[in-house]
Formats: sequence, C-alpha cells, structure tokens
Amino acid sequence: MKLHTRTAGTGPPLVLLHGFPLSSAMWLAQRAGLAEGRQVITPDLRGFGGSKLGDDEPSVDAMADDVAELLDALSLDKAVVGGLSMGGYVTMALARRHPERLSGVILANTKASADSPEAAENRETVAQSLLDGGDLLESVPNLLGTTSLEKRGMVVGRVRGLVGAAPAQAAAWAQRAMAARPDSFDTLRALNVPTLVIVGDEDKLTPPGDAEAMAKVLPDGRLVVINRAGHLSAIETPETFNRAVSGFLTEIG
Ligand code: MLT
Repeated sequence: MKLHTRTAGTGPPLVLLHGFPLSSAMWLAQRAGLAEGRQVITPDLRGFGGSKLGDDEPSVDAMADDVAELLDALSLDKAVVGGLSMGGYVTMALARRHPERLSGVILANTKASADSPEAAENRETVAQSLLDGGDLLESVPNLLGTTSLEKRGMVVGRVRGLVGAAPAQAAAWAQRAMAARPDSFDTLRALNVPTLVIVGDEDKLTPPGDAEAMAKVLPDGRLVVINRAGHLSAIETPETFNRAVSGFLTEIG
C-alpha cells in the first residue's frame, strides 16, 4: 500500500509513525522542530489521513510492510524509525520483518507485550461498535495526561480534532490489527541498533512500567521519562519530546 506522507527538511532520514486513531498531522511539532539538517518523514498509516485502507486482513505486519515499501520508494536503505503507541507496535513489526532497514529506533508511549485475551476482545467490541456508528472519541479515553487535561486547552482541542478526522473503517481495522499483534520482547532482545524509549509520567495507557520493561531487554536501549506528559507526549510536551529525540540522534550520529 502506497502511503501518503508529509515530509520536512533534507538530510539523514527520520521516519515517525503516528498513534491510534491519529495521522501524520500529530507530528506537526516534530516536522517543525526536528527537520534542521534532517529529513523528517511522517506517513499516514493505512486508512488514516491521506492513505487508503485497502482490503488486506488487519495486521501490524501489513502496516510495517507499507513502511518498508515507503523506504524503497524513497530509495532509502535504512532510516531511524520511531513510533508512538500504535506506531510503536508497527515499528516493532518492522524490526521483526525488516531489521536491515533500521539504523536506530524510537519507541514512544508504547509497549512490547501482546494484548490479554480480554483486551483483544474489548478491541473487537470497539471495532464492531465503530462500524455500527459508535463514537470514536468516547472509545479512546486517557489519551492525554492530567496536566494537559487541566492546563493545555489547545492540546485538548487539537487532539479532539485529530481523533474526529479518523475514518471509522480505518479505526476498526487498526483495532483488529492491534488485537492480533504478537508479543515483541524477543524482537527487542534481538534488536542490534541504538534504541530510545520515551514515556510520559502521566501515561495511563502505556505507563512508565511498560517503557522500563522494554528498556530493560534492549541490548542498546536508553529511557527518557517526560514529566507532565501523558500518552501523547509528542503533542503534549513537544519541546521536551524533540529534545530527547535530537539528543538521541546526535548521540548515534
Ligand atoms: C495508540 O495511542 O496508538 C493506542 O492507544 C494504542 C493502543 O490502543 O494500544
């Protein structure tokens, strides 16, 4: 599947994969703040933003193959690839299926464990309800941390807008893809490139414990915990997020 992509800057490539149920629009502050001497490539994962959904069975593998195809189309052998939450699941699928395409990895507000049977069942219920006209915004509580909910009105409004733009078909497909994803701890143990793990201390969906568990098994991992950020740290605290990413990219050259 050919992915619609927003790109900023020129230089060594950094690919950023968005969370659920958002689009490349979530990376506005990263395209603005990280593109100095670098090419920041932010695709819309299939079904979201400007990308078509297609008719493949739901899987994070299909989403990862799309990203590998995007690298082919851009004639890039390798890139630093980062993903937030669902984008992190896709990044781990990429590490499993196309490890040779990665020169570094960023895993933000995500986790390596698979869904419990209950969580997977709940995703199926949500997928069905979305296809029946259910409210997507109601199905994604806890995207933002307490500080953002209380003090960052612009962030709250922006996230509502981003979620509101997601097509129900794509959101249902992605819920099923996430429900079917495997455990990725072995993938992380085998990951032989520098990896940055980021989490917000107010993240209720993938709390700091999930980030610590990933950092612990990574052969070349480092962990940054961002204060006063929730699950959407890149949107909630963009300067701190960008500083962590810049520092990592400088470190790995
Ligand atoms: C996301 O932000 O991408 C979702 O919270 C991921 C998930 O539902 O596991």
